[in-house]
Amino acid sequence: MTDLSLGGPTPDVADDGVWLACVECGDAIAPFDDVVYECPDCGGLLEARYADYPTFEEFSGDGVWRYAAALPFDEGVTIREGNTPLYTVPEIEAEADVADLRVKHEGANPTGSFKDRGMTVGVKVADRLGVDRLACASTGNTSAALAAYGARANTPVLVLLPAGKVAAGKVAQAALHGARICEVDGNFDDCLDVVAELADRGEAYLLNSLNPFRLEGQKTIGLEILEQSRDAHGHLPDRIVLPVGNAGNTAALYKCFRELVEAGELDKSEVPKLTGVQAEGAAPMVEAVENGRDYVERWDDVETRATAIRIGNPVNAPKALPGIYDTGGTAVAVSDEKITEAQRMLAEDGVGVEPASAASVAGLLKLRERGDIDADERVVCLTTGHLLKDPEAAAEAGGDTTPVPADADGVLDAL
Ligand code: F0G
Repeated sequence: MTDLSLGGPTPDVADDGVWLACVECGDAIAPFDDVVYECPDCGGLLEARYADYPTFEEFSGDGVWRYAAALPFDEGVTIREGNTPLYTVPEIEAEADVADLRVKHEGANPTGSFKDRGMTVGVKVADRLGVDRLACASTGNTSAALAAYGARANTPVLVLLPAGKVAAGKVAQAALHGARICEVDGNFDDCLDVVAELADRGEAYLLNSLNPFRLEGQKTIGLEILEQSRDAHGHLPDRIVLPVGNAGNTAALYKCFRELVEAGELDKSEVPKLTGVQAEGAAPMVEAVENGRDYVERWDDVETRATAIRIGNPVNAPKALPGIYDTGGTAVAVSDEKITEAQRMLAEDGVGVEPASAASVAGLLKLRERGDIDADERVVCLTTGHLLKDPEAAAEAGGDTTPVPADADGVLDAL
């Protein structure tokens, strides 16, 4: 039985008030003695735990490290991640007909996605452990972020990508930051199987979201959303809608809220409803939620234009599904057509996102139409990656170019 409860005594293995706990069997593990991703006893997912959970008063500065009191270190390997904008989107708010709609645009991070928040912490842990190679499987953004943070830390990076299924911007980033890029004949889930085996053999330090420290950094999305919402209009959002691939963010947001409840900063009734969105062609989490299951069944064949979330085996499901259920949230699948439509709508409000990000808005609109979200709700949609990550998708979703002669009259004639 998955147990995500916090609190209780600090185990002897804790290092400066930090330890890892198995969410299945409860075993406590020293955080920085050995390289460990899963429970050595039962294979369950691990979660970072702390002797103390901070209140908002303990945060100062900006970006991810504003929240150092909620993280394992005071500082990480940083390129100034976090502090992303929470935009109003008047046109979409009117279309969705909800009390308030904001978009938290994680595309404004240094490498253009939320992955930077996880890497600033995860690569710091790797540094502390003294590993000599970092690795990940990726639909693109994780590899771009790991390549940049690995470069910053002077540690070689290996990335495994599903051949032909990663958007051009992301491959370009990994290449320029100097990662060794291997294109695997298989999908993302196959890549993760392979890189997990390499990590098990001690060949590399794994920085996929199976790594519990990545999710620590990603918790700060939730902390920022709550602080920004409070500053902007004096109250917290009722619901956060986000795209789901491996369900790392869903798990990280839920952990953020559990910690705030544990610290006495948030009443359980105030916790935003976590609402996950997947593409119809890659929706094992939605299938699990629709059937009220606490586990997912792997989809071997997945397909969607939103390549970032072309994932059939969301490894963080045991941490994320309780988050959806306990907060009163839900999950929904949207078509690729609706994702592109939402991408255009966001663009019309000036917010440029990649397809996977637009899934959150498409999901909100679908749930409103179905009556699963009420008109009086205050909603935040998470957009996870920048438009330029996938230039091809953006060009397809956008308008055509017009060839003109090199003179002003020619341009005016063409208009
Ligand atoms: N949105 C974008 C833009 C992503 O790149 C990802 C995941 C997700 C959403 C899903 O987030 O896994 O936390 O549920 N991208 C990973 C990668 C898999 O390799 O870049 P999740």
